[in-house]
Amino acid sequence: MIDIVTPNHTHAEIAIAAAEAGKHIITEKPLALNVEEAEQMYDAVKKNNVTHMVCYSYRFTPAVQYAKQLISEGRIGKVYHFRANYLQDFIMDPQFPLVWRLKKEVSGSGALGDIGAHSIDLARFLIGEFKEIVSMKETFIKERPLGEMTGGLSATSNTNSTLGKVTVDDAVAFLARFQNGALGTFEATRFAGGNRNKNKFEINGEKGSIRWDMENMNNIEVYFSDDEPGLQGFRLINCTEDIHPYANAYWPAGHIIGYEHTFIHLIHEFLSGIANKYQPSPNFEDGLINQKILKAIEQSSESKKWVDV
Ligand SMILES: NC(=O)c1ccc[n+]([C@@H]2O[C@H](COP(=O)([O-])OP(=O)(O)OC[C@H]3O[C@@H](n4cnc5c(N)ncnc54)[C@H](O)[C@@H]3O)[C@@H](O)[C@H]2O)c1
Repeated sequence: MIDIVTPNHTHAEIAIAAAEAGKHIITEKPLALNVEEAEQMYDAVKKNNVTHMVCYSYRFTPAVQYAKQLISEGRIGKVYHFRANYLQDFIMDPQFPLVWRLKKEVSGSGALGDIGAHSIDLARFLIGEFKEIVSMKETFIKERPLGEMTGGLSATSNTNSTLGKVTVDDAVAFLARFQNGALGTFEATRFAGGNRNKNKFEINGEKGSIRWDMENMNNIEVYFSDDEPGLQGFRLINCTEDIHPYANAYWPAGHIIGYEHTFIHLIHEFLSGIANKYQPSPNFEDGLINQKILKAIEQSSESKKWVDV
């Protein structure tokens, strides 16, 4: 198997070569630079009959899997709203260098594809497919010092006076209508000071609500409208009981797990797919659909009009 963890502009070439060599493949997200590459990658894995996944890792948080279970069981009824923010702040200093994440030809897009794509995947996983989108995006700092080739999560500011152009968005906001009639509101930004990795969502349905925040990833908060009057409100569930997804592979209840375990769960699912001959999700098809949604968001922010997905 091949696990592709290089910058986004290399995913397609490596994945297509790996598929042609008969290797099973995990590719980091976003699947590719653009829809055209994503289509070629999906064609290559289908043609060569290999197992494939794209690393939308937050799906594999036990609390998120449990939220999915509650929604599938109808516990919150028909879904009205999906509300997601993915907030970071690591590039707010204007001296932060022009890392690959800020160059369109390497990354494809900015906050949109890097973190907004995770919220899009969670929305698809939890409540269903997108129908149409309207969006806006902004690049607040338009030039930055040259001189860093890393992705940036660990890069440091510098005072190099030679500047290069930032060619991706710093922030994006968009509204969506889902095929099931639900409304979505989304924000992805690297300019939300104080928010290091605030990936969160809230879902409101006819019978209840569920919310989750990556910075407290073991918990979900749930509200059910048929709770006794006087006791109504959000309650906190620590998803570490044996009954919760993946939890019985670890410690006794209350002994929490972390970010890295989401990747372990994804790889478990990938290996199970190979061993038991099924195609796990999220896979290259999910990656391609996600890429089409990213494209619709970019198109809408340019045309200032609603775009069908
Ligand atoms: N699933 C997630 O939540 C998550 C989190 C972080 C990053 N990512 C994704 O992982 C990928 C890498 O991001 P990162 O932050 O680790 O980047 P990074 O810049 O820190 O690391 C990239 C690595 O790839 C190597 N590399 C670059 N070009 C190469 C090439 N042509 N051949 C071989 N190696 C090459 C670099 O030397 C470096 O070691 C990106 O696609 C990113 O979107 C996903």
